[in-house]
Amino acid sequence: MKIVQITDLHVGKEGEDTYGIDVRANFLKVKQAIIQTQPDHLVLSGDLCFDIGDKTIYRWIKTHLDEINIPYDVISGNHDDPIMLAEVFGLKDQLNNNQLYFSKAIGGYPFLFLDTTTGVVSDEQLSWLKKELKSHKREVVIFMHHPPVKAGVPFMDVKYPLRNKPAIQEILFNHPYPISIFTGHYHVEKNIRHGNTIVHITPSCFFQIDQKEPEFKVDHHRIGFREITFENGTIMDTVKYL
Ligand SMILES: [Fe+2]
Repeated sequence: MKIVQITDLHVGKEGEDTYGIDVRANFLKVKQAIIQTQPDHLVLSGDLCFDIGDKTIYRWIKTHLDEINIPYDVISGNHDDPIMLAEVFGLKDQLNNNQLYFSKAIGGYPFLFLDTTTGVVSDEQLSWLKKELKSHKREVVIFMHHPPVKAGVPFMDVKYPLRNKPAIQEILFNHPYPISIFTGHYHVEKNIRHGNTIVHITPSCFFQIDQKEPEFKVDHHRIGFREITFENGTIMDTVKYL
């Protein structure tokens, strides 16, 4: 089974200036790459919108995704609105107290999807995560927008981190089975391992951020996405740039 993860699309409203970058053209390029790759499943890990959640943007993205004809899941980032997302993508069943979090089996593997729109994993989701992890006595895959660990990217670690990292780390790091986490948000390519937990940060479809500078600095403008393959109980992944 092959999954493609795309993240941080940051699509603006029609005609909106998005730092001089044609984010809609970027998305269409990624769409072509997905068509060529033909994954079994697609995940959009948040920040579909440039700045704030907008139904017209979600509808535009959905129209293109539906054309690809590959099953997909969407989660919410800090530049999204989970209620609007749920409405446009028909996910109201996955909305719990206005948070878009859910679990499902994909290709026989257990997948959990979290909502970190507010920059934290809510207490409600933390209890749910604990229960879900306990119920699967095997490796679990988690998609969430924010990395739940410090990534050594000073600008993002200091200015826009997940604010309650210790609370989720206590659950993840004490879990006896492997956990593979795929995130976005940082606009970098990075893998961080803590015991059984490995966090894969996937680059953005917008621009990538310099990993060493404490102040905001663009590293490059190549569009990134991740391919994840599941074969005989092994998860392998690779990042591609367009
Ligand atoms: Fe973000």
